Amino acid sequence: MNILVTGGAGYIGSHLVKQLGEQTKYHITVLDNLVTGFEDSLLYGKFINADLSDYERIDEIFSENSFDVVIHFAASLVVPESVTNPLKYYLNNTANTTNLIQVCVKHNVNKFIFSSTAAIYGEQDADNITVTEESSTGPLNPYGTSKFMSEMVLKDASNAYKDFNYIALRYFNVAGASVDGKIGQSTKNATVLVKVAAECAAGKRDKMYIFGEDYPTDDGTCIRDYIHVEDLASAHIEALDYLESSNESNLFNCGYGRGYSVKEVIDMMKKVSGNDFEVQMQGRREGDPSALIADCTKIKSMTNWSPKYDDLELICKTAYEWEKKI
Ligand SMILES: NC(=O)c1ccc[n+]([C@@H]2O[C@H](COP(=O)([O-])OP(=O)(O)OC[C@H]3O[C@@H](n4cnc5c(N)ncnc54)[C@H](O)[C@@H]3O)[C@@H](O)[C@H]2O)c1
Repeated sequence: MNILVTGGAGYIGSHLVKQLGEQTKYHITVLDNLVTGFEDSLLYGKFINADLSDYERIDEIFSENSFDVVIHFAASLVVPESVTNPLKYYLNNTANTTNLIQVCVKHNVNKFIFSSTAAIYGEQDADNITVTEESSTGPLNPYGTSKFMSEMVLKDASNAYKDFNYIALRYFNVAGASVDGKIGQSTKNATVLVKVAAECAAGKRDKMYIFGEDYPTDDGTCIRDYIHVEDLASAHIEALDYLESSNESNLFNCGYGRGYSVKEVIDMMKKVSGNDFEVQMQGRREGDPSALIADCTKIKSMTNWSPKYDDLELICKTAYEWEKKI
């Protein structure tokens, strides 16, 4: 099977490329402009350095290769930046995704797996923080909106072009590094909690901040569902198998169905590293819902996905070990 992975040099994409490469049945091509990715995180596959906004080049690449499936990770994903620079997000995430879908339809590439996000759900009722794929959507920031709009484009395209099918995987909070220590998250100036805490634990930052401790949660800090990056990568392989056997489009949440507060994650990082780094309180950030937890019944019942690393300690430990290495 000939697979194009956009954004495959990035954090999550490189973990998928590793898992695909460990099996012999996949021929992998990675397309990435390396704006936040790293070529040396690619353990397998052919690499093409290209920007998805270069529509002519993308069309040429599809003419020169005969892809069976596109797995589309490439995106901009810094939530606070999306609030101050929304057009970057609509262009890179929604417009470039729309073009990529158009090129797929033109070249008869009928399988598409899309990196969506829990950020499309927005704030839920305080007594109902576990979201299913049917829960109400309502992104709280342009990043989430840009991804939600891409889902709408995919839905309409698959309705109009009957052979074209997609899976949107709505990732919750992705964290950790490969358990064998070969790859991990190398993102510069990261804003995501586990990575920032790992940088503090490894002595690369002198302190970190908690944004808001007045949320309606037990300890006042936001609650999220943290999924280990290797379990998320394997969800793509199972989604691909589902797409191949069913030829039906679908949406799946990807998380573990339980949440940890910001304070709990920081405490765990301090425990696994043995480092008591400084943490300061700040006010709430715009666009942060108080709690978001995935109901993952659907992906577990409709695919063979069986997560192996549902363990906050392992998530923090692999992130910390990787951070010390880079
Ligand atoms: N990390 C998370 O917690 C999380 C959560 C939900 C959803 N997602 C989604 O998962 C996907 C991957 O995220 P990640 O954490 O691996 O981020 P990342 O920044 O490490 O990876 C994104 C990759 O896309 C590439 N890229 C960006 N714009 C491009 C363009 N125009 N042309 C070619 N390449 C381009 C980057 O160089 C990078 O290698 C994104 O779509 C993101 O929205 C991530």
